[in-house]
Amino acid sequence: MATSRYIGPTPLHCADVASAIIAESLEGRDTPVLGVATGSTPLLTYAALVARSFDASRLHLVLLDEYLGLERGDPRSFGSTIDRVLAGPLGVTSERIHVPPHDGEMTAASCGRFEKLLHDLGGVDLQLLGIGGNGHIGFNEPGSPFDSRTRVVELSDRTMDDNRASFGTATAMPTRACTQGIGTILEARQLLLLAIGGHKARILHAAMDGPITPSVPASAVRLHPRCTVIADAAAIAPPVG
Ligand code: PGA
Repeated sequence: MATSRYIGPTPLHCADVASAIIAESLEGRDTPVLGVATGSTPLLTYAALVARSFDASRLHLVLLDEYLGLERGDPRSFGSTIDRVLAGPLGVTSERIHVPPHDGEMTAASCGRFEKLLHDLGGVDLQLLGIGGNGHIGFNEPGSPFDSRTRVVELSDRTMDDNRASFGTATAMPTRACTQGIGTILEARQLLLLAIGGHKARILHAAMDGPITPSVPASAVRLHPRCTVIADAAAIAPPVG
């Protein structure tokens, strides 16, 4: 087990270090595959990656998760977000962007095809992760088995509350998503978990220093042989209360 930790004084420092680790992990790969997360945490890292002189001409991007029930191209979908903040600026074209199944008939077979695609790409070189306020990685909510695979999940109340702001009205907030499983995530060759902000301090502490348990899904990253955790000073401040 090898989880290395880097504490950056500011979110910008963290983004700079994270983008350097990502660029290095993809360098020299015939088919570089970057696993991307959404949410607010990785945005500075994506900007830093775009600013690097980084060869993305063969890069594939694989998303961790996607909401169910949004129209194709909905600007609130994770696919559209990645197009806007990373794929577009890097020039990664749509055939090299892979989103978990999220429309049409959701079956074990369609999730299985997504898993096979990851395998056929040669696996994910580096998987970037955020951490949810309840400890989720991807949309693997507390209680998700560590050997879970890509599947449809119900979002927890906490996750819906945390993400509702980007949806405008309560009714428009999807209640289900398709997510890579924790078992799928752990198969990436390298993991990079980012935690930014004081609101992540309590859960980051639980994930990194508490028991390794499905109750705190992010604690699973400590089982990975090559994981880096990058946090800003606020995210490692002792939780108040
Ligand atoms: P956030 O979300 O980056 O918007 O805090 C993290 C997550 O839910 O994984």
